[in-house]
Amino acid sequence: MAKIGLKLDIGYLKPEAPPEEILAWQSSVADADRMLNKGTGPGAEFRGWLHPGELAPPALLSDISKTARSLQDNSDALVVIGIGGSYLGARAVIEALATDDARPVFFAGINISADYHQRMMKKLEGKRVALNVISKSGTTTEPAVAFRLFQQWVIQKSGKDAASKLIVATTDAKKGALVKLAQDSGYKTFVVPDDVGGRYSVLSPVGLLPIAYAGINIEELVNGASDCSILCDNTDINTNPAYAYAAARNTLYGKGFNVEVFSHFEPRLHYVAEWWKQLYGESEGKDHKALFPASVEFTADLHSMGQYIQEGRRFLIETLVTIESGEPGLAIPVVPGSEDGLNYLEGRPLTEVNHEAYRATSLAHWEGGVPNMTIKLERLDARHLGALLYFYERACAISGYLGRVNPFDQPGVEAYKNHMFALLGKPGFEDKTKEIRHKVEQVAGQQEISFG
Ligand code: PA5
Repeated sequence: MAKIGLKLDIGYLKPEAPPEEILAWQSSVADADRMLNKGTGPGAEFRGWLHPGELAPPALLSDISKTARSLQDNSDALVVIGIGGSYLGARAVIEALATDDARPVFFAGINISADYHQRMMKKLEGKRVALNVISKSGTTTEPAVAFRLFQQWVIQKSGKDAASKLIVATTDAKKGALVKLAQDSGYKTFVVPDDVGGRYSVLSPVGLLPIAYAGINIEELVNGASDCSILCDNTDINTNPAYAYAAARNTLYGKGFNVEVFSHFEPRLHYVAEWWKQLYGESEGKDHKALFPASVEFTADLHSMGQYIQEGRRFLIETLVTIESGEPGLAIPVVPGSEDGLNYLEGRPLTEVNHEAYRATSLAHWEGGVPNMTIKLERLDARHLGALLYFYERACAISGYLGRVNPFDQPGVEAYKNHMFALLGKPGFEDKTKEIRHKVEQVAGQQEISFG
């Protein structure tokens, strides 16, 4: 039987969401699980992430590892070009697990900032650079623009032949401009499966190639996720923390809470929080529904956002994530004198102080009217992080079904794109260009207040 050191503590959800109210979701959770497993719910065509061992079978893992090794042998750094789900999962895992001596991974195409990309190119000057361009659709503007910049740059530095061994494209098997461009240029390609949406794709080649390049054990990551998937097949809320989490957040949403804050005490979880925000924001934020996902990093943010969380408007719930063991043993030194008032902490590990900061914060926020729960991860390694990522994916799908939305589509992201294409005069959008420019000119810029 698979075992994963991951617990959900719901003690501080009382009185707003006591255990009996969370358990009252049991039959709805079982229905949602059936919809997910049988493919009878909305978005059923995007469930390819459900079984991590099938999404990333051994042959694919070995191809990814081999490709990563060959890129490592021929480069000093990797630039990953992708946005949203084609970027955040890799970054979350790399920032959480890569060691200091790992080959560096840079992320381009996550904005359209000239300054950001020019600085990156400056930093990479003189280095041998490999590229992994990732876009399921193969048509997303931000990575397409960045790929033009970096493809040209790598070709100029290394020559066309060498460049073709340094560039890997991860995209749809057939559709989109990128697959054709990659084939024509002789680049190695990996496929983003049709049945996996961007934000559920971290355990496919989308995330795994950059993660492997950074020296992280991708087999362990996938094994952790697979173990978690087996444990999630039990639908009992009492013994399935992912389903308890889904039920708890829906209980609180039903009581009028509007924002869920992901809080953590470990800076290397920063991008796990960013990934989580995308997963939940894009999956549930539709039909004018859902908790808004936000994140804070403690203890830094206890000295800023902590004030609001403790005493601001009461519409927040909080999910804290803690790492229970395996952290460095760095201790507070013994020094002569006691001027700094810290002698009571002498010799005690920073981890202990950090843990008491967590216990103090969760209690204080609960007393301040912020119902909170804690996801306790036994340690932060590839296996446990794989399990945590899957925990969130599975809980997200169930939570979306409980909230009666399609957790696998993202119709809302098209609105800005259509306006931007019209404003930029993209072929095919000519009819809209006049109308959108007119709208923009009628409203924006008409009421500017300046210092004169
Ligand atoms: O989760 C999603 O589907 C999105 O965030 C996409 O990943 C993002 O828009 C990038 O799309 P693509 O991979 O097609 O370039």
